[in-house]
Amino acid sequence: MRIFSGIQPTGRKHLGNYIGAIRQYVAGQDRGDAIYCIVDLHAVSVAYEPADLRRYLYDTTAILLSAGLDPNRSILFRQSDVQEHTELCWLLCAVTAHGELNRMTQFKDKSAKQKDLVSAALFFYPVLQAADILAYKTNEVPVGDDQRQHIELTRNIAERFNERFGDTLVVPRHNIPEVGARIMDLAAPDQKMSTSASTDQGTVYVLDEPKAVLKKIKSAVTDSGTEIRHAPDKPGIANLLEIMAAIQNKKIAEVEQAFAGARYGDLKVAVAEAVVAYLAPVRERYLELRPDEARLEEILSAGAERARRIASATVAEVKDRMGVGPKPARS
Ligand code: TYM
Repeated sequence: MRIFSGIQPTGRKHLGNYIGAIRQYVAGQDRGDAIYCIVDLHAVSVAYEPADLRRYLYDTTAILLSAGLDPNRSILFRQSDVQEHTELCWLLCAVTAHGELNRMTQFKDKSAKQKDLVSAALFFYPVLQAADILAYKTNEVPVGDDQRQHIELTRNIAERFNERFGDTLVVPRHNIPEVGARIMDLAAPDQKMSTSASTDQGTVYVLDEPKAVLKKIKSAVTDSGTEIRHAPDKPGIANLLEIMAAIQNKKIAEVEQAFAGARYGDLKVAVAEAVVAYLAPVRERYLELRPDEARLEEILSAGAERARRIASATVAEVKDRMGVGPKPARS
C-alpha cells in the first residue's frame, strides 16, 4: 500500500498538525510504502518572505525527523525538487472544473484574508495538491479534517482523468483519524488551531518550551459549567478531552470516565502535563538535528531522487494517454 502526504513549510508547526497529521505519517512507515513531501510550492500561494521560506523548510524537515520519520523507512523530500509535480498539475488542470475550485472552502477562507493579492496560485492550489498525491499512485492520504474537501477533489480529478483517457491514475482515500482530526484553538475553541488564523496564546507549537505549553493549556478557555463531557456546547472541554485521548491512544469516552467528577482545573493540569511529556522529546531531538543544514539537505535530495523515479513514470504515462509529446519508444 502506498501512503503519501504533504505538509506546508509555513510558520511553526503546532499541536494540531502533530496530532492530526505528523503522528499518522510516523505510523504510516509501519503500514506501507510511505512518502512525505514538504510543499514549498504551495507556500508561495500567499504573501511570504523568501528567506523565511528556506528557513521554515529546514525547520519542518527537522520537526518531521524529530517526530520519528526515518529516511531509511520512508521517502522525505522537498516538493520543488521534483518538477513532475508542477507538470502534472498543469496536465490535471485539463480535467478540473473551474467551478469545483471556486467551491473550495480553503480558497474562500484564504482569499478573504489576503490584503494585497489573491494569487492565481491560491486558486490552483488544490490541483497541485492532487498532482502531489496522484503522481505516486497513492492509495491512502493521512490528513487532518480540514483537508477532506481537497482529497475529495483529488478523487474526482483522478476519476475524471480515468474516464476521459483510460484507467491510469489510482483513486486515493483519505485517512482522517477518529480522534484529534480537528484540534481547536485553546483560547478560541470555536476556531481550529492554525498558524495563520488562530491566536498565539491558543496555539501550542511543537517547539514551545515546556513552560509555555503549561501556561497555554492551563489558561485554555472553557465554559461556565462543571461537567467534563465531550459535547457541542462545550467546545473547550471537548478539545482538551480530544487532545488527551489522542495522546494516550484512548477513546474519548474512556478519558471522560477517567475525569468523571473532576474539576476543569484538574483536566487542564493533566492535559498540560501530558502534552509537555509528549512534545519534550521531539523538541530535544529537534535542537540536535536542526543546526546541521547540510545533513538535512542531504536527506531531502536523496528523498527527491527516489521520489522522482516514481513520479516521472506516472507523468510519462499521463502524457502518453493525453497525446502530449512524442510517442514513447516501446521496448
Ligand atoms: P498544512 O501544512 O496546513 O497542515 C499539515 C497537516 O496538518 C493537519 N492539520 C490539523 N489537524 C488537526 N487539527 C488541526 N487544527 C490541524 N491543522 C492542520 C492538516 O489537515 C494537514 O494534514 N494542503 C496541505 C498540504 C498538502 C498536502 C498535499 C496534504 C499539499 N499537498 C498532498 C496531503 C496530500 C496543507 O496545507 O497542510
